Amino acid sequence: MPADPCQDDSATTPAARTAGSEVTQAPLSAHETALIRASVSVVEPLAADMTVYFYAILFTRHPEVRPMFPQGMDAQRDRLLRALLRIVDLVDHPESLVRFCGHLGRDHRKYGTLRAHFPAVGECLLAALARYAGPAWTDDIAAAWTKAYGVVADVMISAAEQDAEVRPAVWAATIVHRAPRGPGIAEVTLQPHAPYEHAAGQYASIETPWHPRQWRPYSPANASREDGTLTFHIRAVPGGSVSNALVHRAAVGDVVHLGAPMGEMVLDAAVHSDLLFVAGGTGLAPIRALLEEVARRGGRHQVNLFLGARTGAELYGVDDMLRMAQRHHWLTVRGAVSDEYVPGIRGSLPDVLAEYGPWYQHDVFLSGPAAMVASARQSLTHHGTSPDRIHHDPFDAPLPATS
Ligand SMILES: Cc1cc2nc3c(=O)[nH]c(=O)nc-3n(C[C@H](O)[C@H](O)[C@H](O)COP(=O)(O)OP(=O)(O)OC[C@H]3O[C@@H](n4cnc5c(N)ncnc54)[C@H](O)[C@@H]3O)c2cc1C
Ligand code: HEM
Repeated sequence: MPADPCQDDSATTPAARTAGSEVTQAPLSAHETALIRASVSVVEPLAADMTVYFYAILFTRHPEVRPMFPQGMDAQRDRLLRALLRIVDLVDHPESLVRFCGHLGRDHRKYGTLRAHFPAVGECLLAALARYAGPAWTDDIAAAWTKAYGVVADVMISAAEQDAEVRPAVWAATIVHRAPRGPGIAEVTLQPHAPYEHAAGQYASIETPWHPRQWRPYSPANASREDGTLTFHIRAVPGGSVSNALVHRAAVGDVVHLGAPMGEMVLDAAVHSDLLFVAGGTGLAPIRALLEEVARRGGRHQVNLFLGARTGAELYGVDDMLRMAQRHHWLTVRGAVSDEYVPGIRGSLPDVLAEYGPWYQHDVFLSGPAAMVASARQSLTHHGTSPDRIHHDPFDAPLPATS
């Protein structure tokens, strides 16, 4: 069993303890990093089985943590492993590592994760790694993993504990308005019971009463309002638990829970005054919030907005955006429809972006289906936009950005 990462001082370095920005030294030596990477390459092909085993022993040895997890564990199995692989990628980038783990630690507050839970997870993680690495597992590798887990746990714990001093872990919020917004899409407005400070463009995790402990990220479609309400555009995904509950089941008066706002797709991330916004489907929500924020700050940006869809009927939110463009001279709205002939807006997003570019003197904000974001990103970088001027949320899980 590995040492308790919360107690073992030798397992942590000053770099990890800061959980802030003054990180200068790598938390692990080059040799330790090489040992960890070598062991990951052995277990990676067995990752799915290893993760199942990890949760099986975690819940058997430490049944007290089981109630924190949802009943169905498929999505989480995948996410934890991807986070670990991401962390392994970052071990020799201490600033990114601390940033990533700090976000993760703060985000874990909504699950009720406490300092005391980390040793149990560390113990089971090491046991699972040892079992699946087989003969490749050595005492040196075990020591390197113990140290790495200690560093990560320490950063997550201190970030969470600092966060607990300034804000709640979870906000209860009442549904105060609900309206259809198109086929299978609803606009849901929440009134948080305590002040909820989010920056336009950020997203929030939502837990509904019908699927306890299933948290899903959704992006408010508004900049902060005086009355504190938040409006979400939710699309019901076929077979999706939380989205269907919010679109088809939720009613005014129901109470849901919000986790802390996350995400770095915010206006302050822009260095250029010219902005390119690209949205597909309900990905328009955070872009709409950013447009409200540009307006709130007096319209000091020129904004080109492109809405992408496969068919004209799927072009989401276009009337709302055209109304906004009528009110704000700094906003230009264009559509891009890929699979249907619609005069004036025919073409895939990458083609239409290339036609109206160049965009290398713009900050770019992309939001929509992962494939759309990836292809727009690729096209923009191909045409000269610097990757660090392109902002978007993580695609599939609330894995925080690291840079
Ligand atoms: C940063 C971020 C912001 C988001 N903002 C919004 C938003 O503002 N509005 C909104 O409607 N959604 C948004 N999403 C998607 C949302 O978080 C959920 O993934 C989605 O609502 C499905 O959740 P579910 O519980 O209904 O489906 P689940 O029960 O998790 O999944 C059911 C099935 O649907 C598939 N699936 C899951 N998500 C999607 C998807 N997005 N498209 C197609 N198939 C899917 C799964 O693979 C699974 O097979 C956002 C996602 C991220 C990462
Ligand atoms: C190094 C330590 C850990 C890492 C890297 C890690 C990583 C992750 C990641 C990436 C997720 C997915 C989504 C998210 O960002 O919230 C997650 C979810 C979760 N984690 Fe952790 N975690 C760690 C420790 C813990 C501990 C100690 C607990 C408490 C027992 C815990 C409980 C949970 C729960 C309950 C979920 C939600 C599951 C779900 O929604 O399906 N984690 N974790």
